[in-house]
Amino acid sequence: MKSATARVNGINLAYSRTGTGKPLVLVHGFPLDGSTWASVIPLLMAKFDVIVPDLRGFGQSTATDDPISMGTYANDLAALLDHLGIAKAAVAGHSMGGYVSLAFAKLHPGRIAGLGLVASQAAADAPDKKEGRYNTAKAVEEQGVSVVADGMANKLTALPDLQVCLRDLMRRQRTGGVTAALRAMAEREDNLAWLASADHPVVLVHGDADALIPADRSHEIAAALPTAKLTVIPGAGHMPMLEAPAAVAEALLALI
Ligand code: MLT
Repeated sequence: MKSATARVNGINLAYSRTGTGKPLVLVHGFPLDGSTWASVIPLLMAKFDVIVPDLRGFGQSTATDDPISMGTYANDLAALLDHLGIAKAAVAGHSMGGYVSLAFAKLHPGRIAGLGLVASQAAADAPDKKEGRYNTAKAVEEQGVSVVADGMANKLTALPDLQVCLRDLMRRQRTGGVTAALRAMAEREDNLAWLASADHPVVLVHGDADALIPADRSHEIAAALPTAKLTVIPGAGHMPMLEAPAAVAEALLALI
């Protein structure tokens, strides 16, 4: 695996690149980083040129203080592809990474070869959820990232060892990156109607035991877009790429 940093849109964007084949960008969720794709990458590298960034403010990428949107992250991905000389790529995102992937598909329609949504959704936040995100951002500013890390770990997965690893990973993320992402998620658009007219392959993957985003959200997309390929993974929670990497990789192969 080649790890590197690209200077894009005024920030340093860290990424890894592995394998050969069609370009596939894997986008991590909140408040995590690209390492969450580590179990899936070896299963895809024979078929794809797998590019895994740390979104701005997470992992090894620069944090900025400016308010951002899902479009900001999406434009960073487009700039990363420019940096790598890649015109078009499949983009698959986990949870918040799915919101970013949707924004990428919408903002850069000529560059999306296929879209994967893993434990994600196309719907926007309900008003109470949106308000909760702003309150959480304030709490993180006052008390630190552990507020989110400790609150989320048990909801991500039922596997105790994985909960410990993920809590540590979340605790390592930076306040600015976490609060900016919370506010950006709160303000994201509802993309369900837009996605229903997608003319590129769409792959949906969901654990049926996801305690954070119910599998109904993927069923809802599949109902609106009958060409979408839905894989429901029995017993998996919100982290299917770590809980059931073979099933996730198998599903993403449909993006070839
Ligand atoms: C994530 O896992 O990225 C987040 O839980 C998504 C969200 O809060 O909507």
